[in-house]
This record gives sequence, C-alpha cells and structure tokens, in this order.
Amino acid sequence: MAPPLYLLLLLPLLACADEVPDRYAVLRAPQGQGASAAAKEYLDPTFPLPAPPPAAPSCTVPVLSYSFGDTYGAAPAKASYAPPAGCPAPWSLVVLTFSASCAGDQYDRVAAVWLDGAELLRTTTAEPTPEGVRWTVRKDVTRYSALLRSPPGGVLSVMLENVVNDKYTGVYSVNVSLEFHGTPPYLSDAASSSPAGVASNDPKEPMLPESYFQPADLIVPISDVAGNGKGGFWFRIQNASDSHSRLVTIPSSTYRAVLEVFVSPHSNDEYWYSNPPDIYIRENNLTTRRGNAAYREVVVSVDHRFVGSFVPFPVIYTGGINPLFWQPVAALGAFDLPTYDVELTPFLGLLVDSNAHEIGLSVFDGIAEWLVDANLHLWLDPSTSDVHAALGAYQTPRLKISRHYSTRLLEGRFKIKAKRKSSFSGWVKSSFGNFTTEVEAELKATSLVEFTGDGRNKTVSLEAKQETKTLIRAGDTRKVIGRVEREAKYPLSLFAETEDGENGTSVVTVSLTHGLSVETEVETKALESKEKLDDAQAAQGWMVLLDHDVLNGSVTTTQAYRFSDDEREYERAIDVVDGAVLSDNVTESFSALAAAAADARRRRFHAGIAAL
Ligand SMILES: *[C@@H]1O[C@H](CO)[C@@H](O)[C@H](O)[C@H]1NC(C)=O
Ligand SMILES: *[C@@H]1O[C@H](CO)[C@@H](O)[C@H](O)[C@H]1NC(C)=O
Ligand SMILES: *[C@@H]1O[C@H](CO)[C@@H](O)[C@H](O)[C@H]1NC(C)=O
Ligand SMILES: *[C@@H]1O[C@H](CO)[C@@H](O)[C@H](O)[C@H]1NC(C)=O
Ligand SMILES: *[C@@H]1O[C@H](CO)[C@@H](O)[C@H](O)[C@H]1NC(C)=O
Ligand SMILES: *[C@@H]1O[C@H](CO)[C@@H](O)[C@H](O)[C@H]1NC(C)=O
Ligand SMILES: *[C@@H]1O[C@H](CO)[C@@H](O)[C@H](O)[C@H]1NC(C)=O
Ligand SMILES: *[C@@H]1O[C@H](CO)[C@@H](O)[C@H](O)[C@H]1NC(C)=O
Repeated sequence: MAPPLYLLLLLPLLACADEVPDRYAVLRAPQGQGASAAAKEYLDPTFPLPAPPPAAPSCTVPVLSYSFGDTYGAAPAKASYAPPAGCPAPWSLVVLTFSASCAGDQYDRVAAVWLDGAELLRTTTAEPTPEGVRWTVRKDVTRYSALLRSPPGGVLSVMLENVVNDKYTGVYSVNVSLEFHGTPPYLSDAASSSPAGVASNDPKEPMLPESYFQPADLIVPISDVAGNGKGGFWFRIQNASDSHSRLVTIPSSTYRAVLEVFVSPHSNDEYWYSNPPDIYIRENNLTTRRGNAAYREVVVSVDHRFVGSFVPFPVIYTGGINPLFWQPVAALGAFDLPTYDVELTPFLGLLVDSNAHEIGLSVFDGIAEWLVDANLHLWLDPSTSDVHAALGAYQTPRLKISRHYSTRLLEGRFKIKAKRKSSFSGWVKSSFGNFTTEVEAELKATSLVEFTGDGRNKTVSLEAKQETKTLIRAGDTRKVIGRVEREAKYPLSLFAETEDGENGTSVVTVSLTHGLSVETEVETKALESKEKLDDAQAAQGWMVLLDHDVLNGSVTTTQAYRFSDDEREYERAIDVVDGAVLSDNVTESFSALAAAAADARRRRFHAGIAAL
C-alpha cells in the first residue's frame, strides 16, 4: 500500500524524475470503430472575432504546415512569410489561425508562434484520444500590423516540443495561416474624418492623435533573438534572480510605448498557485521540487529600474488538475494565453536618446521554469524625429508581502498577502503637443494553500486583482484629455481529496472554480467606451490515477462566458458531462445604431489596448 506521503505528491506535487513534464494523460482503449471514428472538436469559448466590414478585400495566406512528432530539443519549425499582394495594408482585421489535430496518447504541450522573433501567439495543446481530437485557435492579430506589413526577415516559426515513444504516441499536426481583411474606401474616409482621428491644430484644444489608438508603427521583440530562436525565442527563467533582457535602441520619434508580455509557467512552477513553502517540503522529507510557496509576480524593468509588474493569470493546461475536466472544453486561456500590457510611455524620457537600453523580464519568487518574452509596441511621430521626453519623480514601488505559515507534519496552512502600488508619470513632447502620461497601478493578491487529513485533502485559493489607471494630460494646462481604467480579477479555488484505490492506484476527487473578469473604460474627447468580460468555469469529479495515467473517472464542467461593450452583449453557457456537451447556449444582442464608422473605430481601439 502506498504511504500517504506518496499520495500527497500526486496532486499536484508530483516529484519529477524524468524529462516528461508532470501532468496527467488519459489512457484509454479505442472505443467503437477506433481510428475510423471522427476526430472530436475541442473548444475554448471566447467572443467571436468581429466580422470584417462588408466589401473589404480579403486574402488568406497559408504559412506553415508541420507535424510535431519527437521534437523535444529540436529547433522550431520555420516557414517564410510575406504579406499578400492582393490585400495591402492598412488592414481592418488580421486573424491568425492555428489549427491542430492529434490522435493517440499524449501530454499537453506548450507552443508559440513567432514572426522574426516577435511572438504572435502562446498556446497549449489539447490532450488527444485514440479516436483523435482537433481544434482551432483564431486570434485577432491586427495589433501586429507593423510586423505583418514589413517583416524584417519574413520567417515565421512555431515551437512545440513533443515526445513520441511506444506509450505516448500522439503527433501534433499544426497548420498556421493568416487572414487579411482590407479597409474598404468608405471606412478609410469615415476614419480620417472622425473626430477621434485628427490631431487638433488648436493649441487650446489639444487631442490625442488618431494613431494613438491604432496598431503601433513598430514592434521590437524583447526575446532571445541572440540565440537565433534555436531553442525558441522565449527566455527560460529558472529562478527568482534569473533576469533576462534585451538591449534595444528605439527611434527618437517614439511618442508612445507599450510592452506586451507573454508568459507561461512550466515544470516545477506549472501549478505555482498551489505550491507549499519549502519548509513544508523539508520537514516532511518530500522529494518534490514544487515549492517556494504560492505567490508569483512577473516584473518588467528598464535599465534595471522597476517599471511594471503583474500577477500572471493561472492558466490550467489541458492535462492539469484533472485532464477529464478539459474535454472538450479547454480551461480558460489554455488555447490562447492572455498577454499583459505594461504602459512604458512615462519612461520614454529614459529611452528616446538614441542609445541602447536594457528591457528586462524576471519572475518574483519564480522557480524553474517560466517561458517569457515580450513585444515592445512603439508609436512614431510622422512629422518629427526629435521627440523630447522626461520621466517625473521616480520611486521604486515596494512590494508589501506578509506570509503566515503553520505546519504539523503533513498538515499545514500557508497564507500569503501581497500588495504593490505604483505610480509613474512622464511627459512627451512631439508634434502632437506636450502630453504627460500618469500611470497608477495597484496589485493585490491573497493566496491560501492548506493541507488537512494527513495531507490527503488540499485546499487552494487565489484572489488576484490588478487595477490600472492611465491619465493623459495636455501641455501646461494639465487638462485630462484621455483616461483608460482597467480592472482585472482572477479568482481560483480548488479542493482535492486523495484516497487509496485498488492495486496501487489512487482516487482523486476535485472541485474547482476559476474565473477571469476584466473591465476596461476609455474616455477621450471623441470617444467613450466601456467593455466587460466575465468568464468562469466550474468543474468537479473524480479520477483513478496510476502514476501519471488517468485510468477512469467521471466529471462535469460548466462554463459561463459573458462579454459586453457599448454595442453588443454576448453570452455563452456550456454544460459538459464526461466529455459530452449537454448544452451550448449562445445569447447575443446588438445595438442597431452601431454605425460602420464607430465599428471601425472600436476595432482600432481594441487593437491598441486589448490585453489584460
Ligand atoms: C492542414 O492542412 C492540410 C492541407 O490543407 C489539411 O489536409 C489538414 O487537414 C490540415 N490539418 C489541420 C490540423 O488543420
Ligand atoms: C538562477 O538561474 C541561473 C540560470 O540558470 C543560474 O545561473 C543561477 O546560478 C541561479 N541562481 C540561483 C540563486 O539559483
Ligand atoms: C526526515 O528525515 C530525517 C532524517 O532521516 C528524520 O530524522 C525525520 O524523522 C524525517 N521526518 C519525517 C517527517 O519523516
Ligand atoms: C477530507 O475531505 C473529505 C471530502 O470533503 C471529507 O469528508 C473529510 O472529512 C476531509 N478530511 C479532513 C481531515 O479534512
Ligand atoms: C511639458 O509639460 C511638462 C508638464 O507640464 C513640463 O514640465 C515640461 O517642461 C514640458 N516640456 C516642454 C518641452 O515644454
Ligand atoms: C487488481 O488486480 C487484481 C489482480 O491482478 C485483479 O484481479 C483486479 O481486477 C484488479 N482490480 C482492479 C480494480 O483493477
Ligand atoms: C470506471 O468506474 C465506473 C464507476 O465506478 C465503473 O462502472 C467502470 O467499470 C470503471 N471502468 C474501468 C475501466 O475500470
Ligand atoms: C441551455 O438552455 C436550456 C434550455 O433553456 C437549459 O435547459 C440549459 O440549462 C441551458 N444550459 C446552460 C449551460 O445554461
């Protein structure tokens, strides 16, 4: 009989001896007609991409088609890319499609798509069945127009490290294509005459230029371009002091800068939000290296100065917690991981001097390993290459963190409270005027990890909340001409009970709820807009485990997705029992007044600030 200590390690503290990441895969004999049965479609319910405007020319460019077999340690798959001659920029909408299929047994894997070292998509795969699964990720990549329009090298790469052997047979087949929708003449006319667009020449009534809310003019990858992407372009962060950076020189005409960060935790930190502190591991002589407690924060720096941070959204990959939960509905964000925007405009004073500067990325309290990189989005002044800027009074914001740990053998309660408040301001004088950008951010997180019943019962809860307020003030009047407020919350709570099963198996029963809610409000003289996302999943059930393999189980998963903005409301509710979708209800309403011009404006605006 396995001792309780071993059972405790099963969820999700599995000690890792081999190279295969610690997660579970479902092993099943083929049912029915076996391979002749149709592959099942897996899904990740999100707001459907906006329909392209009527009469817009459109082109689809198939870029890459590749089967990822035994690709562990191999360089990414590559293909050349050029923008379509038939659909020249500017585009009203560009969509990246990543479609994949797989049959057999396999773990979930992480993958990324880069164009010349700048990341376009971070994703994880679904775990296959012997009959096969397929799924499609469609991502709005309009904000990467600058890169797509004139790619410096024209090389698209996809990394997906997979291990194929006698037991894990699944080969992931992936197609990547890009779909371009042009801007029909009636829209470009509407846009250029729209009040959001034109930079006012009246110094008494300064306004943000139209380009402020359009995709950036230049995108600089903050990624491992030095390694030529041989091991992927992401930086591999191994511990809390492992900072990775890139030296960049930015154009002296830059008037706005936003850093978009991509991040995914793996290996010992895949379930970072449920890791106990090291003292618990040591006192119980456990062999797991999944420790360092349950708080993580991704930190961005410029020349070693703190400029922003965020608690990453705890994405559960499809093999995580209980893989049966994520069939066929993937966990929130698993197919299209959220990215995080850090407003760097207040820091342009440090950057627009034609010298090289170091943009750095690290993970507070992180352990091996985090795959992290970023895109630096830059907006350029078309009429002067001589932008002046200065950072206001600067103070490194302190992280206030309190930890309360109590342990008695395999029982323990570990509570962490963290808070960081930051406030930055800086002015930028371009041909549009002298604008001061003030960014106030507050991050709060509460984490609890508790073991009871000799470590057989485990409770995990994480509440993270991030509020960011950006004000843009004009000239000497200090009048507010733009305001963006965003609040993101992601609660997660899970309870797991592990019992002995027959023949060395264990039976793990889990109930889980997690959610992502983001509210964004934007106000400028010409535009007032509000959008709200509420996405939540609840899953419960049991599974029989032998080592990493799920032998049996029964689960239910429900998802409620709600999105609304000024013109529409969209809701989707899905009910799944043991892999079968019982109901999938969509409710949608539009405001009939939504004019095409407003639609185009919003689309542009989305492209600018859509990330978390
Ligand atoms: C990839 O494209 C090929 C050729 O169009 C098609 O046969 C295959 O089914 C596609 N695979 C996926 C996973 O979409
Ligand atoms: C952190 O990781 C880096 C890179 O692997 C390594 O060089 C360094 O020694 C590590 N530091 C600590 C404190 O473990
Ligand atoms: C851990 O190992 C040490 C040394 O072998 C031993 O004294 C101690 O009792 C062990 N602790 C537990 C909780 O098993
Ligand atoms: C463990 O969880 C189960 C199921 O909720 C419960 O019946 C049991 O009392 C718990 N045991 C302890 C010691 O908390
Ligand atoms: C821009 O405005 C700020 C704040 O009003 C002021 O301190 C700064 O001197 C101005 N810069 C220029 C070049 O006028
Ligand atoms: C456990 O193993 C025995 C002997 O191999 C077998 O008869 C029994 O059916 C197994 N039980 C389960 C639940 O698989
Ligand atoms: C799975 O569990 C159910 C319910 O306990 C049982 O009826 C079924 O026989 C089990 N299947 C296998 C393959 O053990
Ligand atoms: C979908 O609608 C049906 C009919 O109104 C209802 O019975 C079901 O509970 C709904 N499903 C979800 C997940 O809300």
